[in-house]
Amino acid sequence: MNTRHVIELSPSGKTFEAGDELLLDAMLAHGLSVPFSCRRGACGSCKVVVAEGQYRAKQLAPDAPAPCYPLAANEMLLCQSHACGDMRLEIPGWSLDSPALVVEATMLSKRALSPDIIELVVMPDTPLAVRAGQYLKIQLVDGDSRCFSIANLPAEDEGRLVFQIRQVSGGLFSETLLGGLEAGDLLQLEGPFGACTWQDHDDTPVVLFATGTGYAGIKPILLSALKRDVEVTLYWGGAQPADFYDRVFLDAAVIEHPRFHWHPVLASQGRVEEVALSHGHHWEVAHVYACGSGAMITQVRTECLEAGLPGHRFVAEAFVPSGRSSAGTASKPLHPVWEKVGPRYSLDGMLAARDQSIRALAAIASRLQVGMTTGEALDMAAEQLQAMGASHTWHPTYIRFGDDTVRPPREGIDRQRRLRATDIVVVDLGPVWDGYEGDYGDTFVFGESPLHLACRTALHEVFDATRDAWLGGLTGRELYDFAEQSAVSKGWRLARNLAGHRLADFPHALFECKDLADLEIPPSEMAWVLEIQLCHPTEPVGGFFEDMLMLQA
Ligand SMILES: Cc1cc2nc3c(=O)[nH]c(=O)nc-3n(C[C@H](O)[C@H](O)[C@H](O)COP(=O)(O)OP(=O)(O)OC[C@H]3O[C@@H](n4cnc5c(N)ncnc54)[C@H](O)[C@@H]3O)c2cc1C
Ligand code: FES
Repeated sequence: MNTRHVIELSPSGKTFEAGDELLLDAMLAHGLSVPFSCRRGACGSCKVVVAEGQYRAKQLAPDAPAPCYPLAANEMLLCQSHACGDMRLEIPGWSLDSPALVVEATMLSKRALSPDIIELVVMPDTPLAVRAGQYLKIQLVDGDSRCFSIANLPAEDEGRLVFQIRQVSGGLFSETLLGGLEAGDLLQLEGPFGACTWQDHDDTPVVLFATGTGYAGIKPILLSALKRDVEVTLYWGGAQPADFYDRVFLDAAVIEHPRFHWHPVLASQGRVEEVALSHGHHWEVAHVYACGSGAMITQVRTECLEAGLPGHRFVAEAFVPSGRSSAGTASKPLHPVWEKVGPRYSLDGMLAARDQSIRALAAIASRLQVGMTTGEALDMAAEQLQAMGASHTWHPTYIRFGDDTVRPPREGIDRQRRLRATDIVVVDLGPVWDGYEGDYGDTFVFGESPLHLACRTALHEVFDATRDAWLGGLTGRELYDFAEQSAVSKGWRLARNLAGHRLADFPHALFECKDLADLEIPPSEMAWVLEIQLCHPTEPVGGFFEDMLMLQA
């Protein structure tokens, strides 16, 4: 007889019944939205804490690889376990009720911070989990919306959300609708979104740049840095003295935090980056955040990188017009079967997850050291992803050195293999940020081996040509036929078992999981990852690059 056990999920108190089936299958059969991905004990997405009760491990086929995800003593993988009796489980960092993308908020207050800047304070009906530096979209009546940064740390402000809004000439929201809002009025907010967020790094110095209300995106990052008591300097550009509308707070913070300095920079006196560079920061170890005009961000990035700042330590958000009429052409609708997404799917969320994944990859690559084992590199990558705010990895992190670069991801690797001074390395990340799946991977060359360098060049050429072919309207299957020919024409072999896949709000595994290479329609943007793995026809040398298909990569 299939005895049924009652499984309780803390802290929601929700229960479901499970018998001989795997706990993951039982939860899905009850319609519970549960994190999972690989179903083979490798990614850790389905990890839970066992608060009470007994379980047994799934019996594996003799030739099946053992689950490899490392677990603490009180942890268990739902995809690898059966209940032996009633149980109580906790899923860290996960809510069964996936948070709504749109929340209602009540306006609390509004006041002028300067002749053209308004502070708007609202209280959402459910507390929002916001990372310092993120923004929300204020929805307007006709489905249009406007982006505004959350200028405070809501968790430390009883959940209140503070916006600092510049009135733009002819602005539908800032000049017309905002004026009519009164305390008690309701607003619809979508989000939070954005990857220009506090990266929770070590004690390295922080340099902040803002122009105008770009300060709204920078202030929560400043508050986070002040809490860590790191050395932090703010350069705030404005056209006139009234533009430095938070001067009182900043002057007080300078007294309270001796390691904090701020410099108002009037346009008539020069540009923010010029002033910062004249102050001689240690750019090679600094973290730089910039919010405001696109021109300022471009200039700051160029000059800081030239001064020695590593690219992945530059984090920025451009405050561009955010109404629908400014957004360019709308994407085509997703296919209802092959491109299903969850309730939180949004282009802003997908883009932010991509940005943060690219940054994480660069950070991990910068920490790879000659002599390190693959196992050590994987531990370092897990720590980096966690520090940057990844809640899960929807697929295991893959790091491969040397001969292992020709192996497909699921094949075991030598964890003791050491990175050599002349070597080729593949890193493939699948982190989840704010409920959105990121997926980014690339190949790195150590030393000057012509074959390694040629592999990396061919890899990016094949990827770029295939992506261009996608813009020409090819189906998923045609794309991989194209990539195969492109690889052969350059003297390499395309590993077709790495065949591209879906990406969405986590977990896309809840929906149909077709490979991109089997898709008979042209894939839509921001829903698929194009993966290219090249292998040398005779030598054990391979390279891998992947990115989400999107129009402006
Ligand atoms: C991620 C993100 C976060 C943002 N955070 C903030 C914030 O915290 N505070 C803030 O004040 N703004 C912020 N912005 C900018 C703000 O979203 C836009 O200025 C928005 O379009 C203003 O809406 P509106 O209805 O008042 O004007 P709209 O009706 O959208 O625009 C009216 C006219 O002004 C032009 N315009 C609008 N905004 C700009 C601009 N920034 N630069 C140049 N021309 C513009 C438009 O092209 C249009 O011609 C942010 C933008 C982004 C993308
Ligand atoms: S470890 Fe269970 S789904 Fe990946």
